Amino acid sequence: MGQFSASFWAPHLVLLLDQQKQLKNCLKHTTYNDAFLDRPHNSTLDYFTYGGSGFFFAPYGAYWKFMRKIVISELLNGKTLESLLPIRRDEMIRLLKVLSQSAKVGKSVELEGELIKMTNNVISRMLMSKWCSGEDDKAEDIREIITEIGELIGTDTSALTTEWALSELINHPNIMKKAVEEIDHVVGKNRLLQESDIPNLPYLQAIVKETLRLHPTVPMIQRISTKDCIVGGYDIPAKTTIFFNVWGHGRDPTNWENPLEFRPERFEGRKLDVRGQDFQLLPFGSGSRMCPGISLGLHVVHATLGSMIQCFEWKVGKEGNLTSVDMEEGIGITLPRANPLVCVPMARLHPIHPGCQFMTRSSR
Ligand code: HEM
Repeated sequence: MGQFSASFWAPHLVLLLDQQKQLKNCLKHTTYNDAFLDRPHNSTLDYFTYGGSGFFFAPYGAYWKFMRKIVISELLNGKTLESLLPIRRDEMIRLLKVLSQSAKVGKSVELEGELIKMTNNVISRMLMSKWCSGEDDKAEDIREIITEIGELIGTDTSALTTEWALSELINHPNIMKKAVEEIDHVVGKNRLLQESDIPNLPYLQAIVKETLRLHPTVPMIQRISTKDCIVGGYDIPAKTTIFFNVWGHGRDPTNWENPLEFRPERFEGRKLDVRGQDFQLLPFGSGSRMCPGISLGLHVVHATLGSMIQCFEWKVGKEGNLTSVDMEEGIGITLPRANPLVCVPMARLHPIHPGCQFMTRSSR
């Protein structure tokens, strides 16, 4: 079918789209703005999502619109995110203390587990503080659905992105060095990096973009067309399943120079963003069904990664004696590492109390 890969997975037509123009047509083009807004169900998805129920898979309609409005206006808008900052900070310090304990005794840490625990705590505590006071049925419904959203989508994606980013930094000592120097220069060595520092850390931001390009934690966006439409001159019937190959798109040599190379500098001085406007880079999707947790996800990833490299140096492996991190990918609807990232942290700066003051090795 020319520019598309198309096949029949009876009884449905399935399209794989990985060209920028097609993605743009389907995800954003106003003509089709409401044509690709459902998500498919199949046994694989059901397996990974405990039945594929809930808001993420909700058919486009009144329920989805209602839930999306609630999620954005009540939990994920800028004002709420700001008021719930102390929760995120608290959980971050809890993680750093766990890492600090391991550093003290030279013990290794399995990072995926610790990061998922942290992002899970962040999201569940934010939800609890927002909705625990309500007693009526509506409050209960909303609590259930939002908890499912957090557990299925938010925690995994943010934790995995942080884990991939740290893996890349460990494998690229020069990039790690440049990132730590930026943090030392902007934040200093006497306090912990905070979310408010992120706008002043462009290299850290470029590292996160580069990680999302090479390791998008939702590698394949899946939608179903709700009505007949035309894409790239082809008639696409309603109920066609569409896979947007975000992973392939991020590695396409027609979009990126030396696409397999991890090189955050490619973003320096460029206005290329991840918020669904630049079709070269779509780790959060685009259009009406794009990720509503983008700001929360980016806050968590930047702050966690930034403080992990501000406070620790990282030795790879259980004994800390491996020379590099393997980058094999696992399977799932999110994109995990095939093998967990196990490292021995070594303290650079030492937390001295939960109010997060730090002292350097030389000032101890
Ligand atoms: C690095 C972190 C994250 C990444 C890479 C990510 C990525 C994505 C992607 C690619 C989609 C599908 C978008 C589409 O179909 O166009 C999505 C949907 C979604 N994400 Fe995220 N996400 C992240 C964090 C979060 C967080 C923190 C939350 C909330 C707590 C969240 C909640 C959701 C929800 C509710 C949907 C479904 C939206 C709908 O169907 O209307 N995500 N995410």
